[in-house]
Amino acid sequence: MGGCDYCRRDLCRVMTFAATVLTLYPEMFPGPLGISLAGRALEEGKWSLDTVQIRDFAIDKHRTVDDTPAGGGAGMVLRADVLAAAVDHALGAHPDTPVLAMTPRGKSLTQARVRQLASGPGVILLCGRFEGFDERIFAARAIEEVSIGDIVLSGGEPAALMLLDACIRLLPGVMGAPSSGAEESFENGLLEYPHYTRPAIWEGRTIPEVLRSGDHAKIAAWRESQSEIDTRLRRPDLWERHKGARVQSASGARHENEEPDQ
Ligand code: ADE
Repeated sequence: MGGCDYCRRDLCRVMTFAATVLTLYPEMFPGPLGISLAGRALEEGKWSLDTVQIRDFAIDKHRTVDDTPAGGGAGMVLRADVLAAAVDHALGAHPDTPVLAMTPRGKSLTQARVRQLASGPGVILLCGRFEGFDERIFAARAIEEVSIGDIVLSGGEPAALMLLDACIRLLPGVMGAPSSGAEESFENGLLEYPHYTRPAIWEGRTIPEVLRSGDHAKIAAWRESQSEIDTRLRRPDLWERHKGARVQSASGARHENEEPDQ
């Protein structure tokens, strides 16, 4: 069969994951994504990056992008008309690409959603500043609101960098050892097991004996059990979901570890 080393279909030869970032601070990109794995992948054309200056879509001579909040209060709000023009421009260049707004009001980003996004044509990311976006933009355009955690950043740009990093490392040919992606935290709904390396004894602490046994079945069983113990202790929320998924799977209602629809 023909095809390339990764997809066997030749599709990836012509497909590049296209990232477009709408921001008031384009100089923040590619930032950390210009080095290491992501930087090399960018140079190799495995993903592409366009930044769009939101201010270029202002409609007044002062290039205003924000205004005071209706009803009063602190801060400024990004104008829906300016944002819509920037989003429409990006969609014109990349039709059928999901548009995501980075905001602490969004749905929490998951590894399952990252995987879906990484397997698509790319993403258009809208980065907010100030108090946020005029809410009407979300009624007027198909935009998914995404949060990277229950913390408040000074703007959406660091969140966009995180989302892109998570997607890029999953692109075909970006990560050295593909299996290290499948076994890591969240891929099966659990935290990954702990790792050790040389020296065998460090500050009086040894590596668990089983890892030096050479018995691969025993090692796999130990890792599975550590992964479960750590998830139960550190992330009871993940553990409950994992248990629930197993019960549902046993009753045939849902496949094991399958996430609910996003
Ligand atoms: N902008 C500010 N805080 C954010 C968060 N937690 N997630 C995504 N975008 C943000």
